[in-house]
Amino acid sequence: MTKNGSCISVRDLRVVFPNGHEALRSVSLDVGAGEFVCVIGRSGAGKSTLLRCINGLLRPTDGTVVVEDTTVTGASAVERRRLQRRVGFIFQEFNLVDRLSVMKNVLAGRLGHRPWLPSMLYYFSREDREIAFRSLERVNLAHKAQQRADSLSGGEKQRVAIARALTQNPVAVLADEPVASLDPELSWSVMSDLRRTAVETKIATLVNIHDINLARAFADRIVGVADGTIVFDGPPGDLDEEALTRVYKGSAAALALAGVRSALRQQAADDDLADGPARAADDTLTAAAAQDPDAMASGAVR
Ligand SMILES: Nc1ncnc2c1ncn2[C@@H]1O[C@H](COP(=O)(O)OP(=O)(O)OP(=O)(O)O)[C@@H](O)[C@H]1O
Ligand SMILES: [Mg+2]
Repeated sequence: MTKNGSCISVRDLRVVFPNGHEALRSVSLDVGAGEFVCVIGRSGAGKSTLLRCINGLLRPTDGTVVVEDTTVTGASAVERRRLQRRVGFIFQEFNLVDRLSVMKNVLAGRLGHRPWLPSMLYYFSREDREIAFRSLERVNLAHKAQQRADSLSGGEKQRVAIARALTQNPVAVLADEPVASLDPELSWSVMSDLRRTAVETKIATLVNIHDINLARAFADRIVGVADGTIVFDGPPGDLDEEALTRVYKGSAAALALAGVRSALRQQAADDDLADGPARAADDTLTAAAAQDPDAMASGAVR
């Protein structure tokens, strides 16, 4: 626990890359144990940079990051490695070892907790195996424990990656676009697993995500980043059009690509409105998207 009682505490974080690009400008954020936070924003907004600073992969130019009792900024290499063992990182591309079984991939989450020689020999204790098995059970994949990782579906691979992160016995989980490679149905089930495990195990979780509908559906809290600054921080219910305009800098193309079009349609349906207003919103977005080819061409929101 950090001094102010949160699990992750970020203060006045600033990142300037050697080429002079300022990717984060005075970002402050606290995430509590068991809190499930989705981070949204256009491509290049600084979302991945933020996650990389939190687990010590990137040293910020200014500001502090504290995770539990470790001040990441200013920590020695040994302390940073120790912290990285307690922070699960989930990537878009799963990062599993294809030729190994599901169980061995999940056991890799214990590597940082073992002396180096047994780890090198892939020797794991009974306790490690039990922890790994319980993690697989949490994502409903215990029955696939002996299957090779490369024979799994994309959704199953990402659930194995979640199980591997849980096996680290993490204090925090950081997920960088964990569902970007998955179809909508699998995206939904992977987000369900991530959220359920975060809440059940009281892990602070930050998820970078481009799909606003998924963020709204699963997040306790949404953080919107634009040009390296937090421009929205609140519950999904407060993410109104005005807030979205700030996050996506008024780019209708970005809004449309992020799924706001369907969100507006859904809202209209929920409000039991006639089809007219929803279609009008749809048409407005389509027309505006056509006028913002830069955002479309650069894949501003993937
Ligand atoms: N090593 C680097 N040197 C210079 N600029 C960088 C470096 N790494 C990232 N950037 C720039 O910093 C900005 C923020 O990058 P970041 O990867 O955090 O964006 P993001 O919000 O995660 O985007 P996406 O949604 O596309 O993943 C981008 O403009 C990126 O080009
Ligand atoms: Mg990114």
